[in-house]
Amino acid sequence: MPTDDSPTGGIGITLFSSSADSADQAEINGYDSIAEAYAAANETNLINGYYERPAMLALAGDVTGHRILDAGCGAGPLFAALRDAGAIITGIDKSGGMLELARRRLGDDADLRMAELGSPLPFPDDTFDDVTASLVLHYLEDWGPALGELRRVLKPAGRLIVSVNHPFVTNLMHRESGRNPDYFATYNYTEEWTAGSQTARLSFWHRPLHAMTEAFTKAGFQISVISEPPPAPGAQELFPAEIEAKPRFLCFLFFVLAASSEPVAGYRSPAE
Ligand SMILES: C[S@@+](CC[C@H](N)C(=O)[O-])C[C@H]1O[C@@H](n2cnc3c(N)ncnc32)[C@H](O)[C@@H]1O
Repeated sequence: MPTDDSPTGGIGITLFSSSADSADQAEINGYDSIAEAYAAANETNLINGYYERPAMLALAGDVTGHRILDAGCGAGPLFAALRDAGAIITGIDKSGGMLELARRRLGDDADLRMAELGSPLPFPDDTFDDVTASLVLHYLEDWGPALGELRRVLKPAGRLIVSVNHPFVTNLMHRESGRNPDYFATYNYTEEWTAGSQTARLSFWHRPLHAMTEAFTKAGFQISVISEPPPAPGAQELFPAEIEAKPRFLCFLFFVLAASSEPVAGYRSPAE
C-alpha cells in the first residue's frame, strides 16, 4: 500500500530554475542526498509503482533468459522485477547512495556497478540482449555518447527500452510556472525535490520529441514502439481520486528501439 497517496508518493517537486535563469550548477547535489526517500516513494507511488515500472515491464514482455543491462538502476526496483521474471541482470548507476540501497535490496550476488552513462561502459561489445534505461536519459545534455555505448554493448537486434520525462508535459509545466522556454530548444532546468528533511537539487535536460528520435536513429537504433500507456491495473483502487480525475495522463514517454545489425558508420566510443 502507498504510504502517501500523492502521485509522487510524498516527494515535493518545485521548479528551481530553467535555463532562462542563472542557476548555480555547483549546487546540484543529485540522488545521494535523497536516495532513501526517493526509493521508498518510487516503490508504491502512482507514477513509478503503478505507471512507469509496469509499463517498462509490459514493453519488455517475456525476458526469460535475457541478459539485460539496467542503466540508471537506482535502488533496483526494475532490476528486481526483471530478475523475478527470469532475466539475468546487471545494474549500473552513478549514485553511490542509490547503489547502496540496490545492494541492500538485491543481495551480495547482484551484479551492480558504479558507471556513468555518457562515459565508456565497462562491458565488451555485444554483451546484452536488452538494455533498460528507466527515467535516466533526461539527466544528460548530449545523448550521443550514451546511446552509442548502449548500442555497442547490445547484441545486434538487441532492444533498448526507454522511459523519459514527456517533453510536452515538461515544457507545458515550465510555461505554466511563468517561464517561457522554447519547446523546440534543448534546455536545462533544475528541480528541487524534498521529502521530510531530505532535499536534492536535480539538473534535467528538456529536449523536443524530434531531437529524441533523431538521437536514437543517429546512434543506430530503429524505433519499434512509442508508447503513452495507461496506468497499471490496481491504480484505480489505490489512487481513486487521481484516476477519477485523470483516467489517463501524460507524464513519461516510452520507446522500444531495436539495435540495427550493423554498427553506425562513424560512431566512436567516448574513450577513443
Ligand atoms: C529517477 S531515478 C530512476 C531510477 C530507476 N531507474 C527507477 O526507475 O527506479 C534516476 C537514476 O539515474 C541515475 N543517473 C542519473 N544520471 C546518470 C548517469 N549519467 N549515469 C548513470 N546513472 C545516472 C541517478 O543516480 C538515479 O539513480
